Amino acid sequence: MEDVDGNHYIDYTLGWGPLILGHRHPALLETLRSQVERPHLYGAQHDLEFQVAEKIQSLVPCAERVAFTSSGSEAVQIALRLARAYTGRGLVVKFEGHYHGWMDTALISYHPRAQEMGALEQPNRVLGSQGQVPVALEDVLVCVWNRVDLLKRVFKKHKSEIAAVIMEPVLCNSGCLVPKDSYLPAVRELCTRYGAVLIFDEIITGFRMSLGGAQAVYDVKPDLATFGKALAGGLPLSAVAGRREILEQMFDGVVFGGTFNGNPLSLAAASATLGELEKDDGRLLAHAQAMGKELMDGLVELAGKRNVRLKMVGFGTAFGAHFTDRDQLLDYRHTLDDDPVALDQFIRLALEEGVYLLPDGRWYVSAVHEKADVAETLQAIERVLERMS
Ligand SMILES: Cc1ncc(COP(=O)(O)O)c(C=O)c1O
Repeated sequence: MEDVDGNHYIDYTLGWGPLILGHRHPALLETLRSQVERPHLYGAQHDLEFQVAEKIQSLVPCAERVAFTSSGSEAVQIALRLARAYTGRGLVVKFEGHYHGWMDTALISYHPRAQEMGALEQPNRVLGSQGQVPVALEDVLVCVWNRVDLLKRVFKKHKSEIAAVIMEPVLCNSGCLVPKDSYLPAVRELCTRYGAVLIFDEIITGFRMSLGGAQAVYDVKPDLATFGKALAGGLPLSAVAGRREILEQMFDGVVFGGTFNGNPLSLAAASATLGELEKDDGRLLAHAQAMGKELMDGLVELAGKRNVRLKMVGFGTAFGAHFTDRDQLLDYRHTLDDDPVALDQFIRLALEEGVYLLPDGRWYVSAVHEKADVAETLQAIERVLERMS
């Protein structure tokens, strides 16, 4: 990647995640060039929509039915509406530190400050933006993630009022924290027991953690899942997928709109991206995972040599850097002990040394990062750590 001043960077931001095949992948370019000659909108269903939906059905365990829209925020909105319609209930449980887009009903307790959070057993519901309608809080309950006991309490108290539980199955938006072994199965069991819809927001994990998403890796099937980002390799496309009877409410009473839903260019990009990722038993994604793992291990080793309290948390293709003394990071509250000054310095110096990271210390690894990039990155980070000491 080159900036306006001609400086070169190894890019680990990947446009905030979508560029799973890197920039300007030949297969994507070729598909887009030919698709751009075709009609840009139909205002009706078309072949590519069916093809990509069927591809997703074949890859994602929960995807009995699939519907497309343009952004992740929209996919989350329709998932929440479907869940409320299906259950006839109003409340949605979401978790502190989890991001589900910027809409009024979803941007709640994303990154509350320590003094705003409230008690562990009953966190405050905190609006994320000025101008957000305060009534949005009324239909949301906030819980601390990775703690089955706390979710159980919420279910016991609100029993048949809870329409849905929504979460990032790996908490990518707060430092790529991973679920405890027993956590996702326990949440699945609670949702089933209390008749609530379980929604996995796989907008980051989808087609990045594995071709079947986090649900395939952890073998826990949600009722609904949302996808975006890597789905179309850099073009705007998102999807909601899940149980047939929940999705098919769209034919009967649940309104779902969007002029650009099912956009042919984006769907062509998704077809090319998923096609590439699927080739040779998922060789490209396996390669990306391996490169990411090598990076994580190398970074930990470099930090260890210098006695820097740097932890890398996550999985091969998405992980977060934490300057912390904690042995384990299990929920958003734990990340508040990270040293923000050290992280800022790390990110700024990394940029100066030619390594481009997201401002929260997140790294995304693509299918076109190679061993030479990993080696170059580790050399650059060695210089960064030296400059920090
Ligand atoms: C987990 C998750 N959900 C939803 C969204 C919203 O997606 P979009 O930015 O496409 O609206 C994001 C975006 O970063 C996300 O990471």
